Amino acid sequence: MSPLLEMTGVRKRYGGVQALDGAALTAVRGEVHALLGPNGSGKSTLDKTLAGTVVPDSGEIRIDGAAARIGGPRDAHALGVAAVYQQLSIVGDLTVTQNVVLGLEPARRWGFLDHRAARARAAAALDRFAAAFPGGLPLDRPAGSLGPGEQQIVEVAKALARGPRILVLDEATASLHKEQVAVLFDVVRELRASGVLVVFTSHRLDEVFALCDRATVLRNGRTVGTVELAATDEAELVRLMVGDAPRRSGAPAAAARPSPSAGAAATLEVRGLTTERLRDVGFTVRAGEVLGLGGLQGQGQSELLLALFGAARVTAGEALLDGRPLPLTSPAGAARAGVALVPGDRGRQGMFAARPIQENLSLASMHRRARLRLALGAAAERRAARSMVERLGIKIGSLADPVSTLSGGNQQKVVIGKWLLDRPRVVLLDDPTKGVDVAAKEEIYAIVRGLADDGVVVILNSSDNRELTELSDRVLVLFEGAVAEELSAAAITEKRLVAGALRLTPGESP
Ligand SMILES: Nc1ncnc2c1ncn2[C@@H]1O[C@H](COP(=O)(O)OP(=O)(O)OP(=O)(O)O)[C@@H](O)[C@H]1O
Ligand SMILES: [Mg+2]
Repeated sequence: MSPLLEMTGVRKRYGGVQALDGAALTAVRGEVHALLGPNGSGKSTLDKTLAGTVVPDSGEIRIDGAAARIGGPRDAHALGVAAVYQQLSIVGDLTVTQNVVLGLEPARRWGFLDHRAARARAAAALDRFAAAFPGGLPLDRPAGSLGPGEQQIVEVAKALARGPRILVLDEATASLHKEQVAVLFDVVRELRASGVLVVFTSHRLDEVFALCDRATVLRNGRTVGTVELAATDEAELVRLMVGDAPRRSGAPAAAARPSPSAGAAATLEVRGLTTERLRDVGFTVRAGEVLGLGGLQGQGQSELLLALFGAARVTAGEALLDGRPLPLTSPAGAARAGVALVPGDRGRQGMFAARPIQENLSLASMHRRARLRLALGAAAERRAARSMVERLGIKIGSLADPVSTLSGGNQQKVVIGKWLLDRPRVVLLDDPTKGVDVAAKEEIYAIVRGLADDGVVVILNSSDNRELTELSDRVLVLFEGAVAEELSAAAITEKRLVAGALRLTPGESP
């Protein structure tokens, strides 16, 4: 079969960073083609050259055998390319319908007069995802009122409304619940059956193996290979992605790790914690322990972390750190008490996009920053930031560049890194490794374990069951804001987590 898409020798430079350095990708119609590689390897940039939002410095793109000149999104659209970017483009104040038809020619011509036609078009695109909206399609609701996963699905529907023959999905599953992922995969499989080429990027390799036919791997902006997934295992794929380079480090690097807190070994006791979405939650976490939060997403896991961080309205209950009550009233108070929150939603929390990487990495709060500077001096602060950059393999041009110039996964690493450089006594991790590549995940796990070993209390919420099983000593399964079950280390398996999430006993599990 002659290829539908051929990209060769694609180059793109940003200042001091060669984002693409001769990347190539060849794919056929009716294929789900994974585009893989470490954070900062050029995946999103390559997607954007195809979608017309980035014009490459050089290189060739052929679609259906003919040279394609893609000077902007309009050209890409005309060639049948639609893309869903890593950063959402949903306009929160517009309705779902308005978002889906936004930028479509007819919609503009119809204007307000043909609201009904626009609605029909949006409904047709969204209807494929009906199973993800149990309460009915939210056509007339403001898109901003939807949850992150639902907004992501609207984004995909928007691309589908363009009737593409090439659909690019860049990390489209990162903020989806498992049930939503299943719905998306069904739609992608239908598209494949009807001859569409889907270019799919995800750092969750189980998804790649479940959905994709072949994978092209990028490293440092260059294509290192294309493999048939049926004939490849995970280890081989990881080797392609990270290369034969030695692991960045074995034991946690002393320079990057805070020394144990003075008076380390904390114990956190939570009693009767109640908020709008939590019901009477109680548990104890001892120093050296990683407590996982499991269950279906949206059962109060994030709310629990926010409540402990003083960012949710607590109506009853308390949390005691070594017998002393945590304030639970403001994030600033929580930070002063030594509580850190690492959010998965780096856009809204936890990052100053326009500020330099160094400043973002250096510190969790100005208060701490001033203290660290006093204690260590600016040179040491820079050293600490640099060692974290190395440790997590954050791909940067210079520490002085704004965080916004980093790739999605590298931005998330900065958010994680700054808290790990700080000296927290309690670390709350809310789906921390969303969009982070496999090698860096391992590093982050090692650091988190190291923190626990140093006596820091760690609570982890993760939508990735594999991550939960790998890191947790114990898992609390939440259901509708309450603790439904507690699994001990020995009992934690992905199967048990799924069973717990569904409130089945393992014997009945599907
Ligand atoms: N607008 C920009 N300005 C400066 N540098 C950029 C810009 N966009 C991307 N880069 C750089 O180009 C490189 C490739 O980034 P890209 O976003 O393509 O990576 P990626 O493979 O998608 O990574 P991730 O898995 O983290 O999403 C990175 O080093 C990034 O910092
Ligand atoms: Mg990317």
